[in-house]
Amino acid sequence: MSKKAWGGRFQEPTAPKVEAFTESISLDARLAEVDIRGSQAHARMLAQVGLLTADECQQIVECLDEIGRDIQSGRLSWRVELEDIHMHIEAALIERLGDVGRKLHTARSRNDQVATDLKLYVRDAIDRLDGLLTGLQKAFVERCGMDLDIIVPAYTHLQRAQPVVAAHYWLAYCEKFERDRQRLADCRRRVNVCPLGAAALAGTTLPIDREQTARELGFADVARNSLDVSSDRDFVAEFVFCLALLATHLSGWAEEWILWSTTEFGFLKLPDAYTTGSSIMPQKRNPDVLELIRGKAARVIAAVPQVLVLLKGLPLAYNRDLQEDKPALFDAYDTVAACLELAPELVRAARLQPEAIAARRDDGFLDATALMEYLIRRGVPMRSAHETVGRLVKQCEQRGCRLQDLSLEEFRAACPAVDEKVYEVLGAERAAAALGSYGSGGRGPVEEQLSYWRQKLGLA
Ligand code: ARG
Repeated sequence: MSKKAWGGRFQEPTAPKVEAFTESISLDARLAEVDIRGSQAHARMLAQVGLLTADECQQIVECLDEIGRDIQSGRLSWRVELEDIHMHIEAALIERLGDVGRKLHTARSRNDQVATDLKLYVRDAIDRLDGLLTGLQKAFVERCGMDLDIIVPAYTHLQRAQPVVAAHYWLAYCEKFERDRQRLADCRRRVNVCPLGAAALAGTTLPIDREQTARELGFADVARNSLDVSSDRDFVAEFVFCLALLATHLSGWAEEWILWSTTEFGFLKLPDAYTTGSSIMPQKRNPDVLELIRGKAARVIAAVPQVLVLLKGLPLAYNRDLQEDKPALFDAYDTVAACLELAPELVRAARLQPEAIAARRDDGFLDATALMEYLIRRGVPMRSAHETVGRLVKQCEQRGCRLQDLSLEEFRAACPAVDEKVYEVLGAERAAAALGSYGSGGRGPVEEQLSYWRQKLGLA
């Protein structure tokens, strides 16, 4: 005969192959801590409404603490026949408390239980990610001071475009990670609604107090519809999307630094501790950490379609398919957290190579736009100024010189509006210095941004 918690109506035991196939303890053991928190809140509520005595409640709460400690120290072993973490904990409780333990699952189902556990888990995960993201922002902000005097080319289409203060790059990444924080915080609002008490799918005939469990677990609200609770994994889909976009930001940054650290660019030196050598080519210093940050984004992004495809064909309410939300969720979270643990140190320790950057700073006509804007200030219509500078660039290319090498006569031949002040905006450094608009990459505006971030991150 089956000894399953749900075995009452069964005459034959579950096939071992089925047990192995349907188990989720190999996936959800990490929910132990939140499962215990949820069960303790549930027990307290049951006592409050008279479904448990105060003494029974105390026994259950204390025994759950003990089980939690046993799980942490590895003293509780997993058995596939107990399916999942919820059944393991309940079985241990019953083993230790007998009939009192058999009362815990009153007015509850694993359906609202697992939803509650996952929400508690995701909420904690979001709070941790928020701290990790802030840590990465701090790393970028803290290195700005060192890179305020270095003018680097900025690119569109990976073609040299305009010169900016290097710190402008670091603060651009801060903005992206700030939006990631905001997205996670917004996702958290929907995570923070309590499923517990929806029971299997229809609620319960027992006089439970859902407000109380919600309050005790720190949820801001109680979910209104039990059918929705039992089937809802929107918060998992949203969360993995937030992770996917965050991983995309990390990946873009990693790619940029991989490029910048090539011999071809030579802009950036990565720290030895964060690069690896080659087993055959003695000269190599490979940016493996950055490559893996870029590479690992693939599996985080893949979690989004994985969760959506899982959900797209499900009728209300709980379906066992939902158990498959965990591999995607946990892997995406672990992967992003691991990247965020590593990235700040790398950001701090990498060094721009000012000489290499300066040696080629005036290649590629980074000052062409500044020259065009100089002409506009002298009254030349924008389109005409654009055309004039285009012609001057072509002239320079043919001669193999820079814009600043042209004589005043040559400038005036191209456009009579030019005077000797033109040289004040020519050359990448002067062109960058002339950038003054709000949010631009010139020294002044970047310093303004920097003080905003220092203040915001408590670094001021
Ligand atoms: N292990 C299951 C999961 O992760 C728990 C819920 C099981 N519910 C059920 N009605 N069989 O989704």
